[in-house]
This record gives sequence, structure tokens and C-alpha cells, in this order.
Amino acid sequence: MQIVDGKPAGALSGETIDIACPSDGRVFASIPAAADADIDLAVAAARRAFERFAAVPAFERGRLLTRLSRLVEDNAEELAALESRDTGKPVRQGRADVAAAVRYYEFYGGAGDKIHGQTIPFLEGYTALTLREPHGVVAGIIPWNYPLQILARVAGAALAMGNTLVVKPAEDASLTTIRIAELALEAGFPAGVFNVVTGYGAKAGAALSGHHGVDYVTFTGSPATGTAIQQAAARNNRGVTMELGGKSPQIVFADADLDKALPVLVNAVIQNGGQTCSAGSRVLIERPVYERVAGALAERFQKLVAGPHEADLDLGALINAKQRDRVAAMVAEAESAGIKILARGTVSREAPSSGYYFAPVLFGDVPPDATIAQEEIFGPVLSLFPFDDEEDAIRLANSTDYGLVAGIWTLDGARQHRVAKRVRAGQVFVNAYGAGGGVELPFGGFKRSGHGREKGFEALYDMSATKTIVFNHG
Ligand code: NAI
Ligand code: MG
Repeated sequence: MQIVDGKPAGALSGETIDIACPSDGRVFASIPAAADADIDLAVAAARRAFERFAAVPAFERGRLLTRLSRLVEDNAEELAALESRDTGKPVRQGRADVAAAVRYYEFYGGAGDKIHGQTIPFLEGYTALTLREPHGVVAGIIPWNYPLQILARVAGAALAMGNTLVVKPAEDASLTTIRIAELALEAGFPAGVFNVVTGYGAKAGAALSGHHGVDYVTFTGSPATGTAIQQAAARNNRGVTMELGGKSPQIVFADADLDKALPVLVNAVIQNGGQTCSAGSRVLIERPVYERVAGALAERFQKLVAGPHEADLDLGALINAKQRDRVAAMVAEAESAGIKILARGTVSREAPSSGYYFAPVLFGDVPPDATIAQEEIFGPVLSLFPFDDEEDAIRLANSTDYGLVAGIWTLDGARQHRVAKRVRAGQVFVNAYGAGGGVELPFGGFKRSGHGREKGFEALYDMSATKTIVFNHG
């Protein structure tokens, strides 16, 4: 059921979408398939709720979010199991996602009353000041890879600033979003503040992002859909935050602590089956250690096993057959172009053949202009590239149209600073990698990776607008 104006709601048409578990492809639930009229109702509910919610003192909105964080924590096992079943991710990852969601609601529960305006020196006889005001109704279009986490970063920041919400989760992973909206009601959020509509992107998502009653749109997903959403929002000249994925490099210099780097390099692309916007999908390796690092990675890739979410192996199934086929097609294209596969993982024997599994693949010596070097694969596929020196590394790192995250592995302190400044990415990690945690850290892209920033205090600025007030008391 959707949650509209504080109540469960089907689609007005009565239409539903079957929900299958990626681990076995079997249908286990259904969700309403919303269309324009359903979106109208949800946006109207959010509009009605807005004036009153914006007038709730910031610290009280914070308390509601803090209460929600406790309820998410109290229901952690149920939420982790539901997320794993809906997305095919190992239960361990489902638990990590719940823990991150708890932190987001907790962080924004404590942050919203700490955003201050300014007083500005102005003409004699005048006082000028600024307020941060909510946009109004925020539309959040959420992808299927980390629904609990991405919903929490959107809802936490939007609600902390006094916006009301209409959220459209992905048709492939809507179940935990519905559950969180129920918990938000239990936490005490007034009816109409946190609405959830479910349905297909091209119908429900398109209707929501182009709705005249929406004041701001935030989206995480593919660049192509980001373009469609921006065009829809542009019809009403509404602002947007876009988080559109990446082709994030990890740069390994010859002096790096390889024992520390290797497990992180593997995890950065295997976590969630590689279906992570910040996946470290390119590893650039300085020539003197190229063979050694490639060999060590190959050894690890060979041992990686994909299997059912309950089995909690290295990775689960991919989200659906289309995604599995997309990944398989990109790998096949690279193979037929002569790019060398250094290692392949396996699919567990206990994995049902009706599930959407794809065994990890490691490519070596990838030409920088190959499709797999330039395009987001969103699967467990890692590409290795040798480089000659620092200049070459930076050129390669910046050679795609994306710029979300980068990792730098070197013990040379001056080089850490030089490279971190020159890599075009919204987040740079030095001798570390990972954006999934770190709710405090501003996150977002350059270039095709999008614009606007989520997470941390920065998100509170995206989720509000500055109002300047000038008093003439001369
Ligand atoms: P998508 O970007 O189309 O879907 C994400 C969300 O957008 C879903 O909620 C979907 O219902 C909605 N949507 C789709 N079309 C829409 C439209 N016209 N208007 C409004 N909302 C719309 O991603 P998709 O097709 O599921 O996956 C394709 C590729 O996108 C993946 O292989 C991956 O490369 C990328 N992707 C990146 C994500 C990230 O975190 N950066 C997340 C999901 C996908
Ligand atoms: Mg699902």
C-alpha cells in the first residue's frame, strides 16, 4: 500500500505491480501502480500539511526524526530482512543499510535547529538578515540499490528543514520505503508530511517530477532518467538535486600499503553486487606494481561467490533480469573487443537458476576509451589500468564524463594533497574508500555525476532556500 495523507492507499485504478525476489525470481508481494490522479492526491496532501509543518519549531521536527531513528533501530531485523528480500542483497548488507538509515535520521534529528541565518551590515538606518526557509513540497525519486539509505538521506534533510515529502521509490524496491512511512506516522509526524506513492518511473515518477504542486525535486539514479526529470521539473522551473552515479577511480601508487588497499579495492566494487553509485569500478595502478596488484586482485576475484541473500555470501543476485542482462552484455562486448579477463568469480550451487545472478569479472589492461572504461556498469565488474606517473594517473582518473568519488593510495603526504586537489570528484578518500557510511560527509558529483549535495550539513542548504529581509528603521 502507498501512504497518502497518513493512510494506506491503493492506486485509484486498482492496478498493481508484482514484486519478485531477485534471489529466486518468485513473486512474493505487490504494490499499487500509481498514475497521474494518485500523484495529484499525494501532492495535495503534502501541500495541505506544509504550512503547519513548517511552523513546527525546528527542535521539535528534530525530535520527530530522532524518534523515527529509534523506531528504525527497534525494527532493524525486520527492515534488514525485507530490504534483502526485495533487492537480493546479502542480509549483512541489509543490516548495514539499516544502521546507516538510523544514523541519517539521528544526524538530521540533531541538525535542523543548528542552521542559522546571517545579519548583514547594510545602509545606515537599515537592518538586513537572512532566514533559511523550506522549499515546500519536496519530491524524492529513489533508486532500487540502497532504498533505506537513500530515502533516509533525502527524508532526513528535507523534513529537518520543514518541507513535506512525496516519495516515489523504485518499482523494484518499494517495500522498506512504505514501512518507513508507517514508522514515521508512529513517530508522530502529522498526516500528509511523509507521503509515499509507488509505481513505474515513466508514469508515476514522471507525473511527480513534472507536477506543478511540487516545489523541489531530488533524484538519485541514471543520468538518462536524471535528464528526463530535470526536463519535467524545468516545465515549472523548479530546483533539483541530481545524484547520477559514477565511474569512480582508485589510484594505487607504487609506495601504497598494498595489504591495506587490496581488501578495500575488492569491496568497493563488489559491495551490493557493484550496484552502487560510488562503486570504485576503475583501479589505476602504477606500472612497477601493476603485475603484483593485478595478480593479488585476480586471486581474490576467483574466490568471490554470488548467492541467495539469506546465504550472506560475497554478493547477492542483481536487482532484476534486465540489469543482469545489461551487465552481461557489457562484459561480452568487452570480451569480444579483446579485453582480457584476469579472473571470474562463481555463482553458488545453492543459487536458484531462476535468480538474477552474475559472477564477478576482473578485466586487465583496459583501454581507457573502451565502453567498460567510460560507462557505469552497475555490476560486479572491475577494470584495471596501468599508469606511468602522477600526471598520467590524474589524466586517467579524470578521463570519464563522471566525477563522483575517488580513492588515492600512497604514503607520500605531499602527493596525497596534490592528487586529491586535482581529481575531479565530489568525494576523495586517501588510503580509504567508501561513501556508504559517513552520513556527516557532503556527497555529490561533478560533470555527469550530477549537481547539488546530499548528506551532512550541506544537504540542509539544498533542502531550503535563503530569504533576505530588510528593515528600514531609520
Ligand atoms: P533509473 O534511473 O531509471 O531509476 C531510478 C528511479 O527513477 C526509479 O525510482 C524509477 O522508477 C525512476 N524513474 C525512471 N524513469 C523515470 C522518469 N521518466 N521520470 C521520473 N522517474 C523515473 O534506473 P534503472 O533504469 O532502474 O537502471 C538503469 C541504470 O541506471 C543502472 O544500470 C545504473 O547504471 C543506473 N543507476 C544508478 C543509480 C545510482 O545510484 N547512481 C541507481 C539506479 C540505477
Ligand atoms: Mg524488489
